[in-house]
Amino acid sequence: MTQAIQKKPDYLMVVPDAVRLNRAAVEEISTAADATIRDHGRFTLVLSGGNTPAPVYALWAEERKTTLPWEKVYIFFGDERHVPPDHPESNYRMAHDSLLSRVPIPQSNVFRVKAENPAERAAEDYEAAIRGFFRLQKGEWPRFDLILLGMGDDGHTASLFPGTPALGETSRLVVANPVVKFQTERITMTLPVLNHAAEVLFMVAGETKAPVMAEIFRNHAHDLYPSQRVHPENGRLLWIADQAAAQLL
Ligand code: 6PG
Repeated sequence: MTQAIQKKPDYLMVVPDAVRLNRAAVEEISTAADATIRDHGRFTLVLSGGNTPAPVYALWAEERKTTLPWEKVYIFFGDERHVPPDHPESNYRMAHDSLLSRVPIPQSNVFRVKAENPAERAAEDYEAAIRGFFRLQKGEWPRFDLILLGMGDDGHTASLFPGTPALGETSRLVVANPVVKFQTERITMTLPVLNHAAEVLFMVAGETKAPVMAEIFRNHAHDLYPSQRVHPENGRLLWIADQAAAQLL
C-alpha cells in the first residue's frame, strides 16, 4: 500500500488557533524539560523573542512554577535587539515579564545578552558565556537541549534575516548582525548553533506567515529563507503552526 501523500511533513503540527498553539508548545517544552532533567540532571533552553512566545512562556510558568526543579533549568536567548534590558523591544524584558519573574529560577541560571553594550562586544561576551557554560574547546559547538524559534513573515528566524551577513557565519556562535531593513544591529546565535541543538521548536501563528509557510512547506523553496536552513544535524525538529499560518498548505 503506498503511503498516503502527506500534505505536510511529519515535523509540522497544525493546530486550530493560537490558544491550542500555546498548549501544544507548553506540552513540548515541559516534556523536553522533564525528560532532559531526568536523563542529564539539567535542561538548557534557548528562548525565542517576538510576540508569539509570550503567552507560551506565561502558560508554562503558570503550569510548572511549583513542579519543575527550576534550579536545574538554564535559560539562554537565541537573539536580542540592540537595546537595554528594560526597553519595550527587549526580548529579555518580554521573557522576564512572562516567565522569569514568575518562576523560582536562580538569577545565575539566566544568561542575558548584554545588549546595552556595543553590539559586537555584546556578541563576543555572549559567546564567551556560552563557551564557558558548556566548557567548549575551540571548534566545538554547544548542544542546547531545546531551542525555541519563531519565524517572521519574511522567513527570518532569531535575528537571521534574509540577505544578512550572519547567515554565512560558520565558526562563531554569536554575532552582531546588521539588519538594514530595521536600520539597526541585532545580536544573534548563528545557524551552526541552531543546527547542533538536540531539539528545535518553531512556533508560528497568524495569517501573515501563511505565504512563507507555503513556500517552505509546499513549494520547498530550497533554502530561500533562513528558517528553512534550520535542521538539527542530530536532533528533533518540530514546527507548531496555527491554522491561520498554515492555511495555504
Ligand atoms: C525576535 C525573534 C524573531 C521572531 C520573529 C517572529 O527577536 O523578534 O527572535 O525571530 O521570532 O520575528 O516574531 P512574532 O512571533 O512576533 O511573529
